[in-house]
Amino acid sequence: MPGQHYDMPMTSVYAQRRARLAAQLGDGGVAIIPTAPELHRNRDTEYLYRHDSYFYYLTGFSEPNACLVLTSDGKSVLFCQPKDLEREVWTGYRLGPEAAKTKLGMAQAFSSDEINSRLPRLLENRERVWFPFATHKGLAEQVEGWLGQVRARSRFGVLCPTQQGDACALLDEMRLLKDEHEQDIMRRAAQISAQAHVRAMQRSARMIRNGEEVREYHLDAELLHEFRQHGSQYVAYGSIVAAGANACVLHYQADKAPVRAGELVLIDAGCELDGYASDITRTFPADGKFSGAQRALYELVLASQEAAIAVTRAGKRFNDPHEATVAVLAQGMLDLGLLERTKYGTAEDVIESRAYFQFYMHRTGHWLGMDVHDCGSYVEPSELGVVSERKDPISGETIANRPSRILRPGMVTTIEPGIYVRPAPGVPEQFHNIGIRIEDDAIVTETGCELITRGVPVKPDEIEALMRD
Ligand code: GLY
Ligand code: MN
Ligand code: MN
Repeated sequence: MPGQHYDMPMTSVYAQRRARLAAQLGDGGVAIIPTAPELHRNRDTEYLYRHDSYFYYLTGFSEPNACLVLTSDGKSVLFCQPKDLEREVWTGYRLGPEAAKTKLGMAQAFSSDEINSRLPRLLENRERVWFPFATHKGLAEQVEGWLGQVRARSRFGVLCPTQQGDACALLDEMRLLKDEHEQDIMRRAAQISAQAHVRAMQRSARMIRNGEEVREYHLDAELLHEFRQHGSQYVAYGSIVAAGANACVLHYQADKAPVRAGELVLIDAGCELDGYASDITRTFPADGKFSGAQRALYELVLASQEAAIAVTRAGKRFNDPHEATVAVLAQGMLDLGLLERTKYGTAEDVIESRAYFQFYMHRTGHWLGMDVHDCGSYVEPSELGVVSERKDPISGETIANRPSRILRPGMVTTIEPGIYVRPAPGVPEQFHNIGIRIEDDAIVTETGCELITRGVPVKPDEIEALMRD
């Protein structure tokens, strides 16, 4: 199990975040933020434990069985595993409530065994209780139980909160803007992941040169080696290592398919470092040399990514990079004959009819942070009342449109266009079964964006050069 990585010198970062959250709880507000439960895998084995992101964001504490209670006057109370030297022999060091107070800057800390008796007292005479609505199965019932205990004391003059709020609504907005501490970790996570991609590319070329049989799992092993070698605690998501036609399966996972000379390999993999995800995709020729058709499609995806990068900056909207990508891809699909002009018309027609969807069926980005698909609304909060309607050309559904989020410095998004060509009538054979995605992670800045994942090249010549060495 990965070691604890609460970050003692940075305790103030977490304390500052708690203070900012407390200020939003309203008079008489109290928030309950539990960490994630441990999950049973099979018989007496648990899944590798991973803390809850909201909880970690506020505490920097990664032990299981913990819960933070925060009041609007800024008081932090932690419930955590009690010291138990006998258990610690088996499951490892526990910080314990006493040390938690000083190390994590808590006003009070108690054993998690005491949560049911103590937590109701922390809800007494408060107006609103906040907790995450979406992420903790069973928490609403648990809160109801604690509130029931408060109500049971009403005849002693105790008041029970009458309002409930979704703590995610507040925390999602906070987490959407990454502070310097977060950006620094994300840069390091991205750098490790970039090196892992380099390593996988080189292993593929080397094994093929040596006449060895390469499998997807060999390349996955390289990724994992590099992640752990640099202290990453987890993969940020299940790595995709897709050889040949497998690249056209969007959620394919690294398996055992052969990696063959002449085919492309798509790797979408990133490590999690100290609670933060990275998310990189590279597509490369297994033997280190692009064929003509592969290169043509690759250049198109790369051009569409460049167009997206050019409009990723403060003041632009979240949807702008997607629209820039689609404009380039639509034109390229016509130019390369993936879509016949006689049937589909101009690039504008292709966009209007969404004909490009046959080969590009996902969005160009998502927020990235503690979670790979990080929290934060994609709709601009200051324009919630601006609603227009559009009819989806494929499903025929009427969809309510709200203006997409205005980008601000410190937001982090992925930029990940792709093309996936499944064999179909009218699709030139030379492109069949080619799947390409190029994905980088970008910190939005005032004047543009900082691509933090370019430790692994994207230009085809640079990939070929890297794989020759
Ligand atoms: N690796 C997940 C994604 O790219 O969204
Ligand atoms: Mn992604
Ligand atoms: Mn990805």
